Amino acid sequence: MQIKMLNYEPMNEVHLNEVKLLEKLLKELDENKDVTNTLEEFIKDVKEHFAFEEGLMKKYDFFAYFPHKMEHDKIINELYNLRGKENEYLKKYFKEHFIPWLDNHILTIDTVTAGFFNMVGAK
Ligand SMILES: [Fe+2]
Ligand SMILES: [Fe+2]
Repeated sequence: MQIKMLNYEPMNEVHLNEVKLLEKLLKELDENKDVTNTLEEFIKDVKEHFAFEEGLMKKYDFFAYFPHKMEHDKIINELYNLRGKENEYLKKYFKEHFIPWLDNHILTIDTVTAGFFNMVGAK
């Protein structure tokens, strides 16, 4: 899976790690394995990914903090609701919804946010 590289390297690192974990999850789903633990691992990783961006947005008073956080919160709630769902359901959710969402999120608000972090020299 390919994702867009942004103007702020720490965000790219977080995104690339997440994609690796997502690919592991999708592989296990394709092999119809029990993904309970991998799904929890993935949810934890997404939470950390979002907390990382939100922390910096707050620290540097980013103007679009709230719309960006709202997009994060919506998807995190969806991920919580996946617990205990069958593999077919999970596969469909990730392929038809989560991946297009992530692509779009990175192409839009994450791109703007990364540009801002780069501009202020966020650390
Ligand atoms: Fe992100
Ligand atoms: Fe984001």
